[in-house]
Amino acid sequence: MCGIIGVIGDDPLAALLDGLSRLEYRGYDSVGVAVLAGGELWRIRAAGGGALVDLRSRVGKGELFEPSSSLTPGRSRGLPPGELVAAAGIGHTRWATHGAPTEQNAHPHSGCTGRIALAHNGIIENHRELAARLQASGHTFTSDTDTEVLVHLLEENEDGDGLAASMRRALRTVQGTFAIVAVSISDPDVIVAARRVSPLIVGIGVDRASGYVASDLPALLGRADCFYSLEDDQVAEVGAGSFVVTGLSGEPATPHELKSKWTLEDSEKAGYETFMEKEMAEQPDAISDTLRSRLRPDGFALLDDGLASAGERASALATAAYLDTIERITILACGSSLYAAMAARPAFETWANVPTDVEIASEYRYRSLAADARTLAIAMSQSGETTDTLQAARAVLGRGLPLLAVTNVVGSSLSREAQAVCYTRAGPEIGVAATKTLTTQIAILQLLAAELGQRRRVLDRGDVARISGSLARLPALVGKALAHHDEVREVAARIGQARDFFYLGRGVGYPVALEGALKLKEIAYVHAEGYPAGEMKHGPIACFEPGTVVVAVATRGPLWEKMMGNIAEARARRVTMVVVCEEGDRETAEVADEVLTVPSAPDPLTSPVIDVIAMQLLAYEIARGKGLDVDRPRNLAKTVTVE
Ligand code: AGP
Repeated sequence: MCGIIGVIGDDPLAALLDGLSRLEYRGYDSVGVAVLAGGELWRIRAAGGGALVDLRSRVGKGELFEPSSSLTPGRSRGLPPGELVAAAGIGHTRWATHGAPTEQNAHPHSGCTGRIALAHNGIIENHRELAARLQASGHTFTSDTDTEVLVHLLEENEDGDGLAASMRRALRTVQGTFAIVAVSISDPDVIVAARRVSPLIVGIGVDRASGYVASDLPALLGRADCFYSLEDDQVAEVGAGSFVVTGLSGEPATPHELKSKWTLEDSEKAGYETFMEKEMAEQPDAISDTLRSRLRPDGFALLDDGLASAGERASALATAAYLDTIERITILACGSSLYAAMAARPAFETWANVPTDVEIASEYRYRSLAADARTLAIAMSQSGETTDTLQAARAVLGRGLPLLAVTNVVGSSLSREAQAVCYTRAGPEIGVAATKTLTTQIAILQLLAAELGQRRRVLDRGDVARISGSLARLPALVGKALAHHDEVREVAARIGQARDFFYLGRGVGYPVALEGALKLKEIAYVHAEGYPAGEMKHGPIACFEPGTVVVAVATRGPLWEKMMGNIAEARARRVTMVVVCEEGDRETAEVADEVLTVPSAPDPLTSPVIDVIAMQLLAYEIARGKGLDVDRPRNLAKTVTVE
């Protein structure tokens, strides 16, 4: 969950600080930088809220970098950044797992000699056992992290043959997951990186005279233009403009080349106050990109396009013969991706006539399931790195079953492990809250459902034209939903101080309610529950009282009348009733204290993509009204790589 960056050549300090600010969404409990300069290793770290801002301002004010060899008595202390002529460096922004988010626990860590600095993402499972062994041979630990053991292991494995060789020897004894970057005074012409499970990218500078390592692509956009993803147990020695990759035994190895279309502009705020606001506003374009070339008047081309991109591995899935044999679909996902899958489930059942289960990935992997070769498993994760989803996907693959990945990140672990992949093409999403990745996920699954329906002849030509037309209108309708932002801001100002929110929906409105509640919890820290409206009377209604806010998704789907009945039941308990209703629908608006207006969906099954915009805007405005940092909500990180 942490962000990692390494730079050699270029202007390392500037590149590190710039990269870290683009990696903050990976974690923001604490931050640190270490650079090699003048034959010495220098480090600065900061912890707590606004750690990176704090670190930047300390660097700007010329605050001293501490030589990591200050552990050695008699060494001079400190050097202002202006006097550092760095040749290489590494940086890290942390989401704490082992040890509190303090400066002492912040990465990079240096060991006993102060000659090596190392940053790590992942969890070293056998760190206690390794630390005990190292302590017995004289190493002294100064943090509570699992990571620190790695730097002492590197020291222990130094043998005069370079940092990469020490790394390979050290990692042979390590159990767990890692993305590592390290520098050493003894080997100043390289930064060394290694990966197992946690992603790590090597980049070659646009100037061909710099080398980079990062946990995520956005950190390198604008500086590097050739990208390679390390495979498990590969070690990279990255020099200024070149790199060499080996396996843990030193054998030559080949990383996976990444062909991403993301640009620097994609990963910047572009004049918006927050990434979340920018990413909400990008949804019409993002959905257009998702649909582009995959939607045709005579049908759908997602499978040709999406599955082909997985190359040879796609063969099992890409054949029409296989797809015609599918009897069931199981979608594995977490958080907003899970709700996107729930929102698309009725399309699979209605348009393709395939029973579809949506499973919480973290639960699924521990079940002994009865899926067989006629079940198409789809693992969906915007990042493609969520451990819960990856492990559930591996459980499917481990049973020899075909797996289709749906992800936003080209070259992500999920995309590389599945037999076939469909990319959502939403562009980088930096805000922790999923917005454009969620709406594009719903759109792409609905495309898949429609294509399966066409292949399986559940849909006739008229149906195909109608569904194709409905999907094609989504970008414009989402744009219209976003145009209600000012009204939502006013509603948020009136209800934003309430303590309890219940979000209710039925049918495709239910996952919209779940997503609304998740968004409010996630960025506004307000207690909110998403509930199927029909279940309300089986328990939650006991909590309803004046002051409770109920947000009801009441657009005109087939269950609208039932929903109106549930709204009446809630109103009888004198709650504050907020309804999501269609433009011009006065009948629905009349039962509400507050109205969130959205345009009508041409097909009720596509309404979640439109209705959820109101939920995003409401959570956003409530959070902003409380003065909260919507892009970096507390306790969260964008990519959840722990179980
Ligand atoms: C959504 O706003 C959250 N940040 C979170 O629930 C997220 O959707 C979840 O962690 C899954 O992430 P993924 O799509 O990258 O797998």
